[in-house]
Amino acid sequence: MADVFLLIVRWAHAIAAVAWVGGGIFYWVVLRPALRTEGVPPAVARVAGAEFGGLVALAAWTLVVTGFVLVFARLSEPAADVPYGAVLALKIALSVWMFLLVSGRRRGGPADGRPRGRLRAAANALGSVNTTVVLGVVVFGLSDVLRLLFERNL
Ligand code: HEM
Repeated sequence: MADVFLLIVRWAHAIAAVAWVGGGIFYWVVLRPALRTEGVPPAVARVAGAEFGGLVALAAWTLVVTGFVLVFARLSEPAADVPYGAVLALKIALSVWMFLLVSGRRRGGPADGRPRGRLRAAANALGSVNTTVVLGVVVFGLSDVLRLLFERNL
């Protein structure tokens, strides 16, 4: 029963990670260049950004909740040694950075009515999508390292 629960938690964690990082890569590499094409109304970019923001918020909450269940499960096993703890601490620190970028983006979002503010908020949002994607790719790699370190000690 506990195994099934952990399987579902791990699955939800992985899906949320894929949705966030994969969505960010799509936004960065495909959607943003497409939205810059002449004739695309600015409202389309705004709506796409808001919809993506909703997906990211859901993914971030899912990652935090399921992530801490996984931490608890892993750290209660003797296979989790000091190197495992160090890599996990780095992963959590980078994840917190990602969460802060996202919450900053949502706070500076479309609620700001002034045109200059809106433009600046849009520029910040796009900049932080790039940073979030880079951090997400690194965090993905660290998650693989964690699994390797853990399984090596079994
Ligand atoms: C508070 C934040 C987070 C915590 C506490 C956390 C914790 C964990 C833990 C303990 C594991 C298990 C590692 C192992 O196999 O020993 C894991 C796996 C994983 N994490 Fe996270 N994580 C967090 C955020 C993230 C984020 C932001 C991403 C992606 C951007 C991510 C992606 C993954 C992936 C892809 C796995 C592998 C899942 C699998 O093996 O199926 N995590 N995480």
